[in-house]
Amino acid sequence: MPIADDLWDKAGSPTPVPFSSPPTAMSVAGRIETWTQKWATGRTLWHKNDVNYALLHHETLLLRSPGLRVFVPLCGKSVDLKWFYDKGHTVVGVEGVEQAAVEFFSEHSLNYKTEQLTWAKLYKTNDDRLNIYCCDMFKVDIATLGKFDVVWDRGSLVAIYEEDRKSYVSILKSLLASDFRYLLSVTQYTPNENFSGPPRNIPTELIEELFGEICKLKILEKFYWTEEDELIARWSLKSMDETIVLLTPKNSP
Ligand SMILES: C[S@@+](CC[C@H](N)C(=O)[O-])C[C@H]1O[C@@H](n2cnc3c(N)ncnc32)[C@H](O)[C@@H]1O
Repeated sequence: MPIADDLWDKAGSPTPVPFSSPPTAMSVAGRIETWTQKWATGRTLWHKNDVNYALLHHETLLLRSPGLRVFVPLCGKSVDLKWFYDKGHTVVGVEGVEQAAVEFFSEHSLNYKTEQLTWAKLYKTNDDRLNIYCCDMFKVDIATLGKFDVVWDRGSLVAIYEEDRKSYVSILKSLLASDFRYLLSVTQYTPNENFSGPPRNIPTELIEELFGEICKLKILEKFYWTEEDELIARWSLKSMDETIVLLTPKNSP
């Protein structure tokens, strides 16, 4: 399968857009290399110039007080980082490809400084309120990152390898403050021999299995693609939906 068949490689598609790489093209050892190639060749169709609709729809559920700490795993150069920042919150992203961080600061005309840590290169605004740690998500220093009131997980859980999921969730859980709000955007569909992601299928039962021990789940909304959608038809999928789930502490009222 040619690499140009990656759904995230196609230009001119409506938002939101699914994405795919041939399963054999990536390996756990080469996690970041594959994404570096995508960034280097401009195959970043997941990137949107508008703030994600789910944040706009559910802002009040997430941002309940000023001065929150917001975590954006596998952040790319998402404009959502800037949206949280402009609202006065402290924002921390983790991104494996440095090019994304450089482009983020440049495209938003934000002055920044860098710091070389043992486990990451940190890009941050001069006021220290917007930080992007460039490193493999699975090598983050949890103690340095601290605890977060809000997590925004879009294009992240769906992008990682199945075998990485448990470690990913364990890292995320260890970063949650006591009264967290975790907004998760996942794709749900029936994988077939043509397409199994990324974005990978993350059914609600799997979210329950991964997070249910400490989180309550609430499905906030679903965005549906259908067979008529060119991108869905290409992979012979019947349908695909993007499901927005709010995770909150299990013991909260
Ligand atoms: C599908 S994109 C989503 C980016 C962003 N969340 C958004 O919505 O625009 C996934 C991002 O994760 C990064 N990435 C993939 N695997 C990673 C890993 N193991 N550690 C850190 N970043 C990773 C990629 O470089 C890419 O920018």
